[in-house]
Amino acid sequence: MEIIRVENYEEMSTRSCEIFVKRLKSIEFPVFGLATGSTPMGLYRCLVKKFQAGEISFKYATTFNLDEYIGLPKDHEQSYHYYMNELFFRHIDILKENAHVPNGMAEDLHAECEQYERLIEESGGIDLQILGIGENGHIAFNEPGSPFNGKTAVVNLSESTLKANARFFKNLYEVPTRAISMGIGTIMKAKEIILLASGGTKAVAMKKIIHGEITEDVPASILQKHKHVTIIADEAALSKV
Ligand code: F6R
Repeated sequence: MEIIRVENYEEMSTRSCEIFVKRLKSIEFPVFGLATGSTPMGLYRCLVKKFQAGEISFKYATTFNLDEYIGLPKDHEQSYHYYMNELFFRHIDILKENAHVPNGMAEDLHAECEQYERLIEESGGIDLQILGIGENGHIAFNEPGSPFNGKTAVVNLSESTLKANARFFKNLYEVPTRAISMGIGTIMKAKEIILLASGGTKAVAMKKIIHGEITEDVPASILQKHKHVTIIADEAALSKV
């Protein structure tokens, strides 16, 4: 695990953007795993800027998002489809068919999960996976107790995640309680992982995943076993490390 300690959110975004761009330029058909939430917004802003400046192209890139709420239509403002389109996809030249987000409205959710997993494999696997981290140590929507070898599946969101994500909805009761999420086993297969963290609300989780024991109670602790992980986190997120 390499840890890059940065001053603030802006620097976290710039540093991750630099690595992302390097992989985008050096891999012929790069496959990226993408996250949503507030953490990677600055990274997407940086990538869009570089695209608009003519420095990069996503024409040969494929992306797979980590997760999507179940029951929110793609045009719902809080769906991850909407988030990705608004913040990233519609501003760049990625081919629509290469930008994958799980379909949380699928009639057969289990078939959707299996197909998503298969698509990732058929793409040759993820070259670079971007991760945020939940206050409870979750990655994607793999909550504490999720199996380390899990594949893409329908998952229940924990109380802590529902509360943390309520800030995006009118109230707590509007937050969907289920999602489709890549599994921890799926994430661990990525050739390279960058975990981003900003702010004091992540400090306890960061301490646990860097110094704590590897346990399914802290999903991100398994990253200690991955051979190419970079943590880019700011002072506040690393204040307990
Ligand atoms: C989002 C995701 C989640 C978030 C995590 C942190 O696709 O998979 O694991 O990365 O909940 O969310 P933020 O960045 O909003 O603090």
